[in-house]
Amino acid sequence: MTTKNLILAPDAIEKMRVAGKLAADVLLMLDEHVKAGITTEALDKLAHDYIVNVQGAIPAPLNYNGFPKSICTSVNHVVCHGIPSDDKILKDGDIINIDVTVIKDGYYGDTSKMWIIGEGSIMAKRICDVAQKALYAGMSVVKDGAYLGDIGAAIQKVVEPERFGIVREFCGHGISNEFHHEPQVMHYGRAGTGMQLKSGMTFTIEPMINQGTWKTKIMPDKWTAITKDRKLSAQWEHTLMVTDNGCEVFTTRPEEDLSFLNT
Ligand code: MF3
Ligand code: CO
Ligand code: CO
Repeated sequence: MTTKNLILAPDAIEKMRVAGKLAADVLLMLDEHVKAGITTEALDKLAHDYIVNVQGAIPAPLNYNGFPKSICTSVNHVVCHGIPSDDKILKDGDIINIDVTVIKDGYYGDTSKMWIIGEGSIMAKRICDVAQKALYAGMSVVKDGAYLGDIGAAIQKVVEPERFGIVREFCGHGISNEFHHEPQVMHYGRAGTGMQLKSGMTFTIEPMINQGTWKTKIMPDKWTAITKDRKLSAQWEHTLMVTDNGCEVFTTRPEEDLSFLNT
């Protein structure tokens, strides 16, 4: 048995910075297009062409375990892994997560965010906001010597008072020169339990927060995960690296204020 070295060397860290920036740039590029009337297929084409032709990078989802498209587009009650389609036209009041993963020079950057189309209900705003706060709470406890369980516990502290559900079936993941590797980063847990984090480890945090039950089911297309009760679901994701006093986020967008983090 071989175990993967989870602590990245300086040259690999630099490649993660580049890949992370490219993934974040795709979300920025998409921003002006995520509007009522566009199809998720059109968003996929925009992202695909930008990643391939402008960034000289590879869209990691395309053909990954048979996934047919270059990004995941998850609307309303879709929890994750929504497949872009000509039939899905965004309309006012929808919420959408777009999840982008690019490969550049063999290394991966993985990030996602929510948009609300048009005005959006109070519930739509609330669930998107709580999901982002959940991600930030998880990120805020990352540092050398902390435990994996600290991340899940911090997320639960934010989400459970809101009476929302935290999805159990999908988790964050180690990421570097492979899309998904150890450790599994659970979005619930007990502080002080699980693997101890070490400077130079790279992984994602990507909590999926449901308005109702945390339970999900997979559609017949074998990919699209939806909430069992068809209520709303929201998710935000970053790729980061553990540092001595906190973390370095590789997929930050300029609109974000991450000054609460130690680095
Ligand atoms: N980007 C997703 C993640 O955060 C994985 C998508 S796999 C795909 O891990 F095949 F659905 F694209
Ligand atoms: Co991920
Ligand atoms: Co992702």
